[in-house]
Amino acid sequence: MSFLAERLGRIKPSPTIAVTQKARDLKAAGRDVIGLGAGEPDFDTPDNIKEAAIAAIKRGDTKYTAVDGTDALKAAICGKFRRENKLDYKPDQITVSSGGKQVIFNALLATVQEGDEVIVPAPYWVSYPDIALLCGGKPVVVNCPQNNRFKMRAEDLEAAITPKTKWLILNSPSNPTGAVYSAAELKALADVLVRHPQIWILSDDMYEHLLYDGVKFATIAAVEPKLYERTLTMNGVSKAYCMTGWRIGYGGGPAPLIKAMAKVQSQSTTNPSSISQAAAVEALNGPQGFIAVHNEKFRERRDMVVAMLNQVRGLACDKPDGAFYVYPSCAGAIGKKTPQGKTIANDDDFVTYLLEAEGVAAVQGSAFGLSPHFRISYATSSEALRDACTRIKRACEALKG
Ligand SMILES: Cc1ncc(COP(=O)(O)O)c(C=O)c1O
Repeated sequence: MSFLAERLGRIKPSPTIAVTQKARDLKAAGRDVIGLGAGEPDFDTPDNIKEAAIAAIKRGDTKYTAVDGTDALKAAICGKFRRENKLDYKPDQITVSSGGKQVIFNALLATVQEGDEVIVPAPYWVSYPDIALLCGGKPVVVNCPQNNRFKMRAEDLEAAITPKTKWLILNSPSNPTGAVYSAAELKALADVLVRHPQIWILSDDMYEHLLYDGVKFATIAAVEPKLYERTLTMNGVSKAYCMTGWRIGYGGGPAPLIKAMAKVQSQSTTNPSSISQAAAVEALNGPQGFIAVHNEKFRERRDMVVAMLNQVRGLACDKPDGAFYVYPSCAGAIGKKTPQGKTIANDDDFVTYLLEAEGVAAVQGSAFGLSPHFRISYATSSEALRDACTRIKRACEALKG
């Protein structure tokens, strides 16, 4: 009898975490490595948020809290949804977890039956298919290529729906492409979903605040109120508030779903850190001005990276509207030979070559379900990005054939 459960064999460790760790290890071993794998802002958590955490410790907010969030944080989240998204949730429709990832995990574990289908537009955030698989579901991957600006169209969605479809996962702005769905694009998808009342929608709005060039954010439960009763609107403080290590994510949805998710959490991690919850209250209720300041830096870096990559023979890079990633195609490098004589057969080979030849750590498109591409996170200094793009250019120019 195998020691490890069969369900573990269905999934793989997070490839983005693996790349980040590999870059860290190489650096520790003395290699000159530029890590472009990590999905976290390089900016520090704002001081007012840190102060709120320190005050919580001093106040003695160091005990268990209600499993799925303190009253204060749930009230702050209700306020945020009302203010920013025009979504009206009561506190019993709010859940708080140790990161956005746990919100998704709880939702799928609480609802997915063996064989249920979960529609995942690709390229996708690496964890969606694996969480679905771990919960006994079947990810149904829908290709959304670069010429559709990496977005799912109504006809793509319609074609993927079967009687077994339980969930659709939407993510805008997207990790890994930075693509942003407009309200009109979401409405077109919503029109399909209205005709299929058995489908639930998980709207992953984690990158909501990271938008450039005046692009507006939209979320499906607000765009089509008919879907409110079967949508889980998920968000968190990790990205916009530079709080990846604090581990606070949240969701708003129908009370029975929220209650079921709390049941899962009550038998796994219990409440998220009491101190992080107090900090998240300050993040949501406190001054928001730093977000625009960060976004201006992100926009400058995006523009530089896109311009530099589009000068590289073999690469083609869209300019995304949001998040802090670009997802260039490396189709022009496939089939070429490295100076060591190895053929670049796919994007896995391409990113391995970038790391070995030039010490640039990016993530292969195969991890996100759409090849041949690679993901670069530009949530790092402009100097490092300029250096990385110069190295990528040199690596591509050294390819033969
Ligand atoms: C699209 C998306 N959703 C959810 C998450 C999870 O965020 P957290 O770190 O809060 O668990 C991430 C993190 O990378 C993400 O990129």
